[in-house]
Amino acid sequence: MNQLSFDYSKAIADHECEQFATLARQARHTLVNATGAGNDFLGWISLPQDIQSQISDIQSTAAMLRQNCEFIVCIGIGGSYLGAKAVIEALSPSFAIENNGPEVLFAGNNISEDYLWELQQKLLNRNFGIVCISKSGTTTEPAIAFRLLKQQLENQIGKEKAQQLIVCITDRAKGALRTLAQQENYKTFVIEDNIGGRFSVLSPVGLLPIACAGFDIQQLIDGAKEMYDQCASHESIAEQYAAVRNYLYSVKNKKIELLVNYNPKLHYIAEWWKQLYGESEGKDGKGIFPAAVDLTTDLHSMGQYIQDGERILMETVISVQRANHSVIIPNDENNLDGLNFMAGKHVEKVNQMAQLGTQLAHVDGGVPNMLITLPCINEYYLGELIYFFEFACGISGYMLGINPFNQPGVEAYKKNMFALLDKPGYERESKLIKSRL
Ligand code: PA5
Repeated sequence: MNQLSFDYSKAIADHECEQFATLARQARHTLVNATGAGNDFLGWISLPQDIQSQISDIQSTAAMLRQNCEFIVCIGIGGSYLGAKAVIEALSPSFAIENNGPEVLFAGNNISEDYLWELQQKLLNRNFGIVCISKSGTTTEPAIAFRLLKQQLENQIGKEKAQQLIVCITDRAKGALRTLAQQENYKTFVIEDNIGGRFSVLSPVGLLPIACAGFDIQQLIDGAKEMYDQCASHESIAEQYAAVRNYLYSVKNKKIELLVNYNPKLHYIAEWWKQLYGESEGKDGKGIFPAAVDLTTDLHSMGQYIQDGERILMETVISVQRANHSVIIPNDENNLDGLNFMAGKHVEKVNQMAQLGTQLAHVDGGVPNMLITLPCINEYYLGELIYFFEFACGISGYMLGINPFNQPGVEAYKKNMFALLDKPGYERESKLIKSRL
């Protein structure tokens, strides 16, 4: 097998899902013919082709930053950070052994004073650059981080040099970040109007940070393109995934989908996936709740619930066929831990057996299991995986009967926060909310 595959045989039988397969096919037509709600946000569908003309500009900008910086700080939140974080974490060594260029750090994805103080200390008198990403250009979390780090950089190396090391990714024309970038003459990339944040990892939003970390964005795009070719005009594994999860939700009352990995490098892939599905589907009082576990780690914390708790769970396991490195379990003369029966085996073999055993146990415990298999973790297969999930998300949202491409619910906290902080223009809300405290 040399590409990503999907197996739902441990979730449902073929005949159970026929009606949902038909609904999924209809939803694919709605998606690719742009006849559904949110059809002005479908620019991500053709990104694997459309982005090609920008790849060399992204690569040379990343090369410039890599040459001049010890640290590159990527500022952004939600869709303006999770995709890049996910791919970088998946491809990076767990422990840096040799210096392979600058370290990519993230900021603007929280409002923690301690986080920002510690980051500022780390960057004190060090060479650093900034990639500031905000589609709207007005989001509070990244705006605070950018204000602080821009000033720090200017204080450390002067305004003129700082201008060379700041890159902004934002709207073509609107928003405070665009205005600032124009004023300061920063290098910029555009987030197109028709691409929502959570579908933007294959645009400069994800590609520039990933290239800054030294990874091959062309391979990532090639993998996504391969998946696009599979999905756009035929029944595909993305369509199957959308059909099965909707069947399990609507017919079998499985309200929570756990994305499961057996490799800690994939932790942030799950974080990205949670945003993609949570923000796309959780609306109008509907939607599968996306959750995630890292196994086997979480078998020692969440394993009991998954096996035996309320039967509202389905699982989607991301399985990696082969490790990128080899570690063999050694023989031990005393064998006090009783592990000599594993001696001579690859650690990954044990991991695979843990996976198989867990999957069967969970199925026996009433948790339907879907399985996504990646040949290994590299840029190409991650590109396939990303596009697979994005395309399935579009189909799945339409099957659910909602607009998968808006996010009206995320505004509520912002309105309250601004009212509590006495932002000009929020006087009425401010009075109302303070009377409730
Ligand atoms: O998916 C989304 O649209 C959101 O998660 C946004 O990406 C997030 O709120 C950040 O918005 P912006 O890029 O405008 O700063």
